[in-house]
Amino acid sequence: MIFRAKHLLGIEPLHPTEITALLDLADSYAEHNRRGVAHRDVLAGLTQINMFFENSTRTQASFELAGKRLGADVMNMGMQASSIKKGETLIDTALTLNAMRPDLLVVRHPHSGAVDLLAQKVNCAVLNAGDGRHEHPTQALLDALTIRRAKGRLHRLSIAICGDIAHSRVARSNIMLLGKMENRIRLIAPPTLMPSGVADFGVEVFENMEEGLKDVDVVMMLRLQKERMDGGFIPSEREYFHRYGLDAAKLAHAKPDAIVMHPGPMNRGVEIDGTIADDINRSVIQEQVEMGVAVRMAAMDLLAQNLRASRSPQEVMV
Ligand code: NCD
Repeated sequence: MIFRAKHLLGIEPLHPTEITALLDLADSYAEHNRRGVAHRDVLAGLTQINMFFENSTRTQASFELAGKRLGADVMNMGMQASSIKKGETLIDTALTLNAMRPDLLVVRHPHSGAVDLLAQKVNCAVLNAGDGRHEHPTQALLDALTIRRAKGRLHRLSIAICGDIAHSRVARSNIMLLGKMENRIRLIAPPTLMPSGVADFGVEVFENMEEGLKDVDVVMMLRLQKERMDGGFIPSEREYFHRYGLDAAKLAHAKPDAIVMHPGPMNRGVEIDGTIADDINRSVIQEQVEMGVAVRMAAMDLLAQNLRASRSPQEVMV
């Protein structure tokens, strides 16, 4: 079997061949999506529950669309309005949902490790849609697919990840994935937004955008995660844009064909200049959103195959 995992909790446990297998399948889904081909049999008869304990626009919509395109019965749990507000623990909520016998559980949670914990308590496939500052595996996979399609390969590229790295699960998952695929990774951030222990990541570290962006193939910008800060990380947004915001002058230091990425949501004029974000010759931000649906289709397809294989015939019949 090419993709062995029962859950998709993070990039960390994945082997490079599993990443390639998932991206290959996602690439074919991307082409099918463009041609409007339906695959409603792939997840037919399976129930997908989306549990988002944190706000989300594109990730939740993309998981919902991916499930529907593959024929799953998709339910969105409004976790703001759920019993969590009445004091129910995460585990109790998980056990309640488990009793409804879902097949795929998509979970976003503000606490690092919460999704792993939940996966131990349920007997369905769990997909991590972002847990605290820990991991956001489908985001890293969709970024990887976008890079591979734009650059024709996913190895030996020079990739800069810039901005609020300390608070970013997107950065963590990307550092792991791009490292496993043997790329050169540069992290660019002010010292206050650089995670501790960065020396162990196998990356190059820069404080200065102009130096860090020199000759890179990919520029990945990150949102300033104000909701995870308690003040004092940057002098002011204006000063931050001046030093770390991606504009034409800073981008000129990268390779002439370098692509610009951002996971969204963007703070225009804070970490990125709006004209760069909208420049269709450089920015692949919309392509990232498109690849998000394809990657989630591939991830749920592969996990559903493993789930079906692991269930005994009697269990499948009840
Ligand atoms: C990211 C997230 O939620 O981690 N967004 C996303 O999933 N597209 C990044 C962010 O919130 O800045």
